[in-house]
Amino acid sequence: MKRILVMHGVNLNMFGKRDPKHYGTETLEDINKKISMLAETLGVEVTFFQSNHEGDFVEKIQEVHGDGTDGIIINAGAWTHYSYAIMDALAILHIPAVEVHMSNVHAREPFRHFSVLSGVTRGSIAGFGADSYLLGLRAVVDLLEGE
Ligand code: DQA
Repeated sequence: MKRILVMHGVNLNMFGKRDPKHYGTETLEDINKKISMLAETLGVEVTFFQSNHEGDFVEKIQEVHGDGTDGIIINAGAWTHYSYAIMDALAILHIPAVEVHMSNVHAREPFRHFSVLSGVTRGSIAGFGADSYLLGLRAVVDLLEGE
């Protein structure tokens, strides 16, 4: 069974308390449950990781080398827009990573329009709330099936 790691970055543990206009009202736990349900339907295994510490996030990406993970879904939160450290960590990987965002970052403040991660991920999905993760999961599974 293919193994997919879902990575949630800084402040994403606060979903449910953040501005509902951008992030809805679901908690991270609710979102993870939805992802797990779809994973079961698609016949893949998902694990989750959330951190507010950039170094821990980078170390988790480094751990993926050789631990049997087949693909990554990543929402790096605000790090998306400036973390060259996370970009460099992702660039070393040989497995597909798909970037997701709950909000439509392109319709928000200018600093959110640019992702330093987009150049090292296979594609990005933004603006569909929790469904962005579900679309991301489908995208990773499709990529793995095409290999
Ligand atoms: C986010 C968008 C980022 O700009 C923001 O900093 C977040 C969440 C999203 O899921 O829409 O924390 O990644």
